[in-house]
Amino acid sequence: MIEVKNLTKRYAGRTAVDSISFEVGKGEIVGFLGPNGAGKSTTLRMLTCFLSASEGTASVAGFDIYEDSIQVRRHVGYMPENVPLYPDMRVSEYLRFRAQLKGMSGRAAKRAVGEAMDICSLTERERSIIATLSKGYKQRVGLADALVNKPDLLILDEPTNGLDPNQIRQSRELIKRLGERHTILISTHILSEVEMTCGRVVIIDRGKIRASDTPQNLIRRLRRPGEIILEMKGDDAKAKAALEKLEGINTVESTDVHGGWSHFEIRTDPNIDVREDVFGLVNSSGWKIRELASRAASLEDAFVDLVRKGEEIREKESIPAEDV
Ligand SMILES: Nc1ncnc2c1ncn2[C@@H]1O[C@H](COP(=O)(O)OP(=O)(O)O)[C@@H](O)[C@H]1O
Ligand SMILES: [Mg+2]
Repeated sequence: MIEVKNLTKRYAGRTAVDSISFEVGKGEIVGFLGPNGAGKSTTLRMLTCFLSASEGTASVAGFDIYEDSIQVRRHVGYMPENVPLYPDMRVSEYLRFRAQLKGMSGRAAKRAVGEAMDICSLTERERSIIATLSKGYKQRVGLADALVNKPDLLILDEPTNGLDPNQIRQSRELIKRLGERHTILISTHILSEVEMTCGRVVIIDRGKIRASDTPQNLIRRLRRPGEIILEMKGDDAKAKAALEKLEGINTVESTDVHGGWSHFEIRTDPNIDVREDVFGLVNSSGWKIRELASRAASLEDAFVDLVRKGEEIREKESIPAEDV
């Protein structure tokens, strides 16, 4: 559905997107993830033909972004970063206007707007003046606009930006539902959003692609020390010494003692589960245990790791970050 090859964008004196390549297959929900300034919006603007590329090629929904830009725009629903709306119009009025701009006839537009408002839970606000809507509702209007002509592909630039946690959760559900009918490329810097909605993640940092994989694989690939929490009652000092001797355990830190219960944080070798051994030790020493848990690595860990690696490479080559 999207094929990007060596796509590059240079602004005066600075390369915002540096020869990136990636693909999005039909039916996928792909998260386009990166810190602020990574080049996400620039990439999405090029893919939706709102910005010309400096170099490279891309085809979107089967059309070349240079040769067939009109077809690209017709087949893609794009929700830009700051949704431009007409504040004086009413919701349904605005959406009908947008549908007609996209080439729908009056009756078809009316029906499509009704459906789009329904999908985005906007129906009760259809007569509201856009200026009076909350940020969450304005985002939904932007989304309804993007999908009103039922494009195969939705490209959404930080659709949950500026929403509160409750609104973010609602929008996540909505995007999941949209994924049943559309291919979706969604940019964000909110990791939980990606972890829960996207089948695959493309990570971009300072204009370069750092990874492209499922969230699960990115986490698995991460060689990060394991972390285990133990809460027990017994001989503190003895326990610490014995735990440190167990195979796979690197450090044991006693962080809290409360009502006779000691709280330990245990670091282990990567990808090793020592919980059974820890339980065995505590049990055979006649001590009591009330918590034993491992903290699983998250996509956030993988993300931080990948982005930090990029920084280390730059430091080694002593390239000032601003020029990358
Ligand atoms: N119109 C522009 N002119 C010059 N530099 C720009 C312009 N738009 C974006 N940039 C720069 O390009 C880089 C990438 O920006 P952007 O694509 O907006 O990142 P993101 O969406 O990932 O936060 C940033 O360093 C930004 O300052
Ligand atoms: Mg952006």
